[in-house]
Amino acid sequence: MPLRETYFGPWILGEDALEALDHWLAEHRSDYSQVCILTDENVHEAAVPRVLAELAHLGESAVLEIPPGEDSKCPEMLAQLWLALLENGMDRQSLLISMGGGVVTDLGGFLADTYMRGIDHILLPTSLLGMVDASIGGKTAIDVGGYKNLAGSFARSAGIFAWTPVLESLPELEWRAGWAECIKHAFLQGGSLWASCQTVQTFTDLLPHLPALAEAKVAVVEADPFEHTDTRKALNLGHTLGHALESALAGGASHGDCVAAGLWMESILAEEMGHLHPTHGQALRRLIDRWWTTRLPLPSNLNVYLHGDKKNQSGQIRFALPQGPGQGIVLATVSDEILQKALAQYV
Ligand SMILES: NC(=O)c1ccc[n+]([C@@H]2O[C@H](COP(=O)([O-])OP(=O)(O)OC[C@H]3O[C@@H](n4cnc5c(N)ncnc54)[C@H](O)[C@@H]3O)[C@@H](O)[C@H]2O)c1
Repeated sequence: MPLRETYFGPWILGEDALEALDHWLAEHRSDYSQVCILTDENVHEAAVPRVLAELAHLGESAVLEIPPGEDSKCPEMLAQLWLALLENGMDRQSLLISMGGGVVTDLGGFLADTYMRGIDHILLPTSLLGMVDASIGGKTAIDVGGYKNLAGSFARSAGIFAWTPVLESLPELEWRAGWAECIKHAFLQGGSLWASCQTVQTFTDLLPHLPALAEAKVAVVEADPFEHTDTRKALNLGHTLGHALESALAGGASHGDCVAAGLWMESILAEEMGHLHPTHGQALRRLIDRWWTTRLPLPSNLNVYLHGDKKNQSGQIRFALPQGPGQGIVLATVSDEILQKALAQYV
């Protein structure tokens, strides 16, 4: 089972990913003096014992557990973990394995990249969003003072092993969070991937499409590994309105639910501005409506958060608008009149 070589590290996704990791350990474990596994409480309980049971060549390792949730992606936790690595005897020849959702892999990536000026790091994503999105592309990050991903790095992993059976314990809400990103990837990719995602009825139906959904992100990030151009901005599809809504609702709705609403409304913007044919916009909204049957409230302060978006230029809101399945995005500012029209159609 060969690992696919990508600029952000050797990568594998599927049922045989754990076997691939054990092979990798058989070959490389003796290169490392110590191994620490970083995880969160939920993943520790639901998945770590099951995963470790499959890794015959892991040898001795320590498990470091953080509280689940975005709040753990912070400088205080990073500092605690630097010290915890030291207390566990981790030196420059040690290996960190991050096993969890995007919070654990973002934080673990930054931890490994900064501890003693950088140690080797393996990612074992366990959430749907982690497998198709956060573990792909080499970005590590922590949030600082309420600013998301304010500090971070681009870091190559020693390996990314996305073992899909671990998704069996993933809560429904977290499936939905990942599914919103999958819809975005499928629309960006177009073709048969977009066609098959429109027919998915259950999350089990989604499993065969995970490699292609992850590949869709691999293709975008490999085209612009260090974000020197606008290529990676395609991944912001649905996220300008999605992020603003998430902030304005202040914890009242999940990231995935907000991204789904963002995709819905941004497809109207794209249509109104003549970038997207209504047939494609309608197909996207039909799919979202099938999975998200209730609309989110649109708070009156949504505009305040939209104007704070980091993609804005000279005070104008910039959107990554879809041009059709597989046809990329156009970066555009939108008049207030068109914006209000899209919001009104959504409610
Ligand atoms: N680096 C990137 O390119 C990138 C891209 C997208 C998102 N992200 C980051 O990813 C984070 C969101 O990731 P997420 O949605 O995975 O959140 P998360 O890490 O908080 O995981 C979601 C929840 O699911 C639980 N969980 C994960 N796997 C499980 C399993 N197999 N069984 C049971 N419970 C499980 C976790 O404990 C957590 O409670 C954000 O911080 C975001 O900024 C990073």
